[in-house]
This record gives sequence, C-alpha cells and structure tokens, in this order.
Amino acid sequence: MNATYEARAYWESLLGGKYSLRGVGYQGLSASFNRLFYRSVAVAAAAALDRAGVGAPRRVLDVGSGTGYWIDFWQRRGAGEIIGLDLTQAAVEGLRERLPGIRFEQADVGAERLPGGLGELDAISAMSVLLHITDEERFRRAVANLGAALAPGGVLLLTEPVVVHRWWGRPFDESSNSKARPLGEWTDALAAAGLRLESLTPATCLLANTIDTRRPGTYRLAFRYWEALNMGVGPRERLGAVVGSTLYALDRVAMRLARTGPSTKIVVARRVS
Ligand SMILES: C[S@@+](CC[C@H](N)C(=O)[O-])C[C@H]1O[C@@H](n2cnc3c(N)ncnc32)[C@H](O)[C@@H]1O
Repeated sequence: MNATYEARAYWESLLGGKYSLRGVGYQGLSASFNRLFYRSVAVAAAAALDRAGVGAPRRVLDVGSGTGYWIDFWQRRGAGEIIGLDLTQAAVEGLRERLPGIRFEQADVGAERLPGGLGELDAISAMSVLLHITDEERFRRAVANLGAALAPGGVLLLTEPVVVHRWWGRPFDESSNSKARPLGEWTDALAAAGLRLESLTPATCLLANTIDTRRPGTYRLAFRYWEALNMGVGPRERLGAVVGSTLYALDRVAMRLARTGPSTKIVVARRVS
C-alpha cells in the first residue's frame, strides 16, 4: 500500500531536492519542456486577466509560490505590492534569497486563518495549488480564506484541474497528492466564499496531462500520448526543447478551437459580497 499523502513533508522534500520548474511542474520531463508548459499557461492566464479587466493590481498575493514563477509574472505585469505565501520552508527561504524586496510568508492556506495583514487584496493567484489540498474541509477553508482576503470586486486566479466532463483516471485515495474536483464542487466552494466564477478556459491543450474528456476512449488515447511523451522525451533537455516547441506551436492552434479543453484550466472568480 502507498503511504498517505502528507502535504508539508511531500513538498519540502520535492522543493528541497529540486528547486526548479521541474520540482513544481512535471518532474519526469526536462526543464526545457516545463518552461514551454509554463509559458503556455502564462499566456492563457494573461488573456483571462485581460478579459477580466485586471491589468496591474495594486496589491496581490500569490499562494503556493514554489519557485516564484507567478511572482515574476505579476512583476512583469507591473503589480504594485506583491506578497508570496508557501507551505514550505524550502520555497520561502529560496524566494526570500532571490527576491529580498518581496514579503514571503510560510503558511498553510487551508489553516484556520492566514497570516496578519493579508486583507483588501485586488488579486490573488494560486496556480496548481488547491488541487494539492486533498482534505475537503481544508480545501473549503482555503477557498474561504482567499475569498475573505480579497477586496470587494477583487479577482482570484487559479490553475486547476476542474472536471467539466468526467474524470476517467485512477480513483482518488489517501496516497494521492492531488485531487481533480468537478465543476459543481468548485462553484459551490466559490459561492460559499462570496466568489462568483467569471470564466473557465483551457490553460493548455497539449503540454499537460489530460484531466477530463466526454468519452473514455478519448481519455485512454490522451493518456497514451502523455505516457509516450514522458517516455520518449523524459529529462532530455535538447529533445524537450524541440518537442516542446513543436507542441507549443500546435497548442496555439488547439487553444483557439478549444472551449474548456481536456487538460488543466484557468479559473477566474470575483469577490461579489
Ligand atoms: C505544484 S506546486 C506550484 C508552484 C507554483 N504555484 C507554480 O505554479 O510554479 C504547488 C506549490 O504549492 C505549495 N502548497 C501546497 N499545499 C499548500 C498549502 N496548503 N498552503 C500553501 N502552499 C501550499 C507547495 O509547497 C508548492 O510550492
């Protein structure tokens, strides 16, 4: 039997050993491939923020900062005050060293309350983070904490494996380090936190594993594609760059055609009460 997922120990060991995009992204794939995956998500996130009218927020919190990819994203967007938060000492120490002018807090977003001084935010990002809170009570509390930290009208930006159709993969159990939640559970949790789902769009179609499909056959096909990519490319940097760039170009086309997409999604929700 596999060991029960212990979030803190899991992320400390991952980030302590591999403090790079491979640690927070796809560990079996090269850094070059992961960079292209992140680029695709960043393009989709920027477009979703533009549509929501979020330019350069005055005050923004990035939850589950990891190696700080989304802190850099907010800096490039010209955000005013940026604050980062992560469960792990490894992430927070690494980020404080790299970005000494930015406040980083070590905290669990699903705890009873967030550290002081984190209210009245114009925007919060939590990119590939909430799926890793597998306990339902903690998950709901995390969403409630984020809702409460936003100013009215403030925007929550997420990358999450929201299941729009159906999840055909391995059933969730205690050893799972992530949980793909159906859209209905998301809208409930957001509404309970005073947030309204504003948009749900694909983060990428081809550069990440498949989350949900209408039919099991499509899921099996997509699963084989991802398996072949992991086996064929794996950690090889040059091959990862060539294959990743080709898939990135194809992904631009697929993204124009997809509505919700088969893979991870960009969620934009706004605080309404
Ligand atoms: C998959 S990584 C994503 C990191 C970063 N957001 C990115 O997209 O590169 C998940 C991050 O969330 C952090 N994390 C996991 N559970 C958390 C929690 N309950 N509270 C705060 N951070 C958490 C982990 O330590 C890790 O840095």
